[in-house]
Amino acid sequence: MTDSTKIYQDEKSYIAEISNLSYSSAGVARFDGKVAFIPYTVTGDVVKFTVERDRKTYLDGKLKEILKSSPHRRTYPCPYFGNCGGCQWQHINYNYQVISKKNITKDILERIGRIANPDVSDTYTAGGEWNYRQRVRFQVGLEKNEICLGFNVYNSNKVVDIDNCYILKKPVVEVLKELKKYKNELRGILDFEIYYSSKENNFVFSGKAKEDNFNPSNLKKVSEIFKGGIVRTKKGRVFTLKDPYLTYSIELNRLSYNLKVYADGFIQANPEVNAVILNSIADYLGDNYQSATMLELFSGSGNFSFLFSKLCKYVVAVEGNNSSFRALEENIAKNNILNIHPIRAGVRDEVLKMFNNKRSFDLVFLDPPRIGAKEIMPYIPKFNPKIIIYLSCNPTTLARDIQTLAYSGYTIEKVVPFDMFPQTFHIETMVILKR
Ligand SMILES: C[S@@+](CC[C@H](N)C(=O)[O-])C[C@H]1O[C@@H](n2cnc3c(N)ncnc32)[C@H](O)[C@@H]1O
Repeated sequence: MTDSTKIYQDEKSYIAEISNLSYSSAGVARFDGKVAFIPYTVTGDVVKFTVERDRKTYLDGKLKEILKSSPHRRTYPCPYFGNCGGCQWQHINYNYQVISKKNITKDILERIGRIANPDVSDTYTAGGEWNYRQRVRFQVGLEKNEICLGFNVYNSNKVVDIDNCYILKKPVVEVLKELKKYKNELRGILDFEIYYSSKENNFVFSGKAKEDNFNPSNLKKVSEIFKGGIVRTKKGRVFTLKDPYLTYSIELNRLSYNLKVYADGFIQANPEVNAVILNSIADYLGDNYQSATMLELFSGSGNFSFLFSKLCKYVVAVEGNNSSFRALEENIAKNNILNIHPIRAGVRDEVLKMFNNKRSFDLVFLDPPRIGAKEIMPYIPKFNPKIIIYLSCNPTTLARDIQTLAYSGYTIEKVVPFDMFPQTFHIETMVILKR
């Protein structure tokens, strides 16, 4: 990275060349002895920018003008891009998005995980860069007493009212259009998620109510759009709308199964990339672990558990969310699987309990939420697994956590970034460690 020359265009704006992309909406420039983060730029752009905030070690910049356009830039289809916080990278050629996710993963593992020169594979992609999301959370906003439905404005609580979205699966866009006809029914809702199942060609709704005295009969037309759903109030009251679950299919190279998910359970955002992740784990483990025992943490409703039940002798699957756990148990029963032992528990408590009981496992798989799994990392090596597979939607917490495993003698066998979230800076990463 070279320092850009500090040139005063006027009192407040500067010029810099963007040297790389960061794990955010911003491109990075070296400027005035500091690093400047300038949103909506890309490597090779020469830009005029203003300084929004001057922090001790870095600057937050605001793009004013592109003086020289990067070869990685492109025109993008979405009229809301730049204002809507849903996507951050639509202005970047898809090839370069994918290359950058590999580079960013490597950089984060080096900087935060202190792993020297990690061997990160090329980013795996699947299903195309548009219309990939089967799960979405919409915000409900109010502008001049009119309800708006969409995503938050970048870095703000304001809601961008959208009529279309290029990263949602097309049937989900159709549901959004339908919902807008009855948007006034959503006045009592803060935000809501929609899950779509292509197998059922149907949807479920999971809303958060603004007030505890929420009246679900207000959602008369809205609830007709969905197979069912739930609404939760801040104080924990739950209203159920019709049938609040979907069945969806996991189609893998050597296996397929159907899973049930409840409206307030968990489903991966991008089904095509999800299948690629499952297939790559199946290829890696192959038939070599038929007598192995597996501990699966953060199992959800069984997305990975069913694959593991075929690859290993038995799987202990730990999940804390009641709806996901209920679906997991029902999925095990429906698929008549005898070698998955589901445990409804907080992962921390269960791991401590297993540690006290001197349990051991040949394999450990974990797929935590964005905050990672810091508290349990010191205990995982105590189970003495030969292989640990850590899947993460946040490379910064992943890097922090696997550092603990490296201290316990585990070495990295494989790092694979998956593009689960095209047009955004988000990266799904799988790390396989061995001891
Ligand atoms: C990223 S999701 C992965 C789910 C599953 N592996 C899948 O692919 O569908 C994380 C899961 O961990 C669960 N979870 C989050 N924090 C937890 C905790 N402290 N204890 C137990 N489960 C937790 C969530 O309910 C969610 O199902």
